Amino acid sequence: MAANFPDGFLWGASTAAYQIEGATREDGRGPSIWDIFCGLPGTIANGDSGTVACDHYHRWPEDVALMRELGLGAYRLSLAWPRILPEGRGAANAKGLEFYDRLVDGILDAGIEPWICLYHWDLPQALEYRGGWQNRDTAHWYAEYAQLAVRRLGDRVKHWATFNGPNCASLKGYGDGEHAPGIRGRASALAAIHAMNLAHGLGVAAMRAERADLLLGNIYNFRPHEPASEHEEDEIACEVLDALWNRSFPDPQMLGRYPEPLATEMVEPLVQPGDMELIRQKLDYFAFNHYTRSRVRRDPDHPFAVGTLPPEPGRPVTAMGWEIAPDAFRQVLIEAKERYSGDLPIYVLENGAAFPDQVEADGRIRDDDRIAYLRRYLGAVQDAIAAGVLVKGYFVWSLLDNFEWTFGYSRRFGLVHVDYATQQRRPKDSFHFYAELAHGAGLERE
Ligand code: FCB
Repeated sequence: MAANFPDGFLWGASTAAYQIEGATREDGRGPSIWDIFCGLPGTIANGDSGTVACDHYHRWPEDVALMRELGLGAYRLSLAWPRILPEGRGAANAKGLEFYDRLVDGILDAGIEPWICLYHWDLPQALEYRGGWQNRDTAHWYAEYAQLAVRRLGDRVKHWATFNGPNCASLKGYGDGEHAPGIRGRASALAAIHAMNLAHGLGVAAMRAERADLLLGNIYNFRPHEPASEHEEDEIACEVLDALWNRSFPDPQMLGRYPEPLATEMVEPLVQPGDMELIRQKLDYFAFNHYTRSRVRRDPDHPFAVGTLPPEPGRPVTAMGWEIAPDAFRQVLIEAKERYSGDLPIYVLENGAAFPDQVEADGRIRDDDRIAYLRRYLGAVQDAIAAGVLVKGYFVWSLLDNFEWTFGYSRRFGLVHVDYATQQRRPKDSFHFYAELAHGAGLERE
């Protein structure tokens, strides 16, 4: 029997500017830290970059038509800060703003609600030259950018998110150095965490000052951790990584404090008087991304002495090597409500899976493994709703195959297959599965 979702449940899909737009040197866009990072030897699989990506900058009408066919209620995009402010601050780039005007109008014309995320990891390189997220001035420049974006698009876009996965951006970008701008260190990571928290607070205040009718939130990323062994050193590493990864943003933003054991380091001069009040702003919804869980061990070479291990042999995994564990998802949803969201609506703004999709001779992509993943994870959403969690919507990652950061184009997450040589789009079987759900069919559970 098909089990239904509540009336009004919002079906969405998410993407990010750097992962799909391409056109990185067109119409006055400035370079972002990802353009520079991709140019460094050995950073990205196959030497890939987002220079062309899915060429969405030119092909967006075709992509919006796919969204409409899919039956999406909402589509989450991100704005490229360096397309709007090539220097990160100062003079706005009219052509960049006009692009987002056209795109937002096209999405609305298709009967779909656009949701905007202001920061999906593509800091203008001009600001990185000034210290990037290690410099707390960046939080103020971010707030100016947020205000400008809302002034331009806030008449048509009501849902705004300040950051996508600020934990990834700070810890991978300024902690272990695996993401742009490729900085490795403990002090740099802590500075980035605090500056991004501050940017969130200042950004929310600036957007509210600009318009009173917006619905604002942040997009966290939750990954439950368990120690890889019962050794005390692994248990300590697990606590540290849990605080860094799962708590260092929602705790200050929702509860007004940094989590232990991080709190002892988040003090003056890094944290200044009044900062915590600024960071804790009233939000209108609670949102996060979720994919998997991890096992944690002590890694003495890491700036925080933490590392993760692959899932135990025999566990089902995706092409990312991420364990398929829908129970962990249900648990995350329940904990999100208990610890943070209270009466706020919860939106899952990313969930999905990479698999080695093949275009078969008849042109079809039979991605049964992705359908099975979605079925199980959506089942977890239903279980959480039944347990009283106010989940109001689910956004799949992703609409299209795209540039998967350090994996380049070697990992495919889309409901739509992209042939990067020709830019041909082909809906996969999972596209049709998701379209049925979005059109109101219930979920057939396993
Ligand atoms: C998330 C990112 C998104 C994509 C997925 C697979 O953490 O927000 O851009 O890379 O992982």
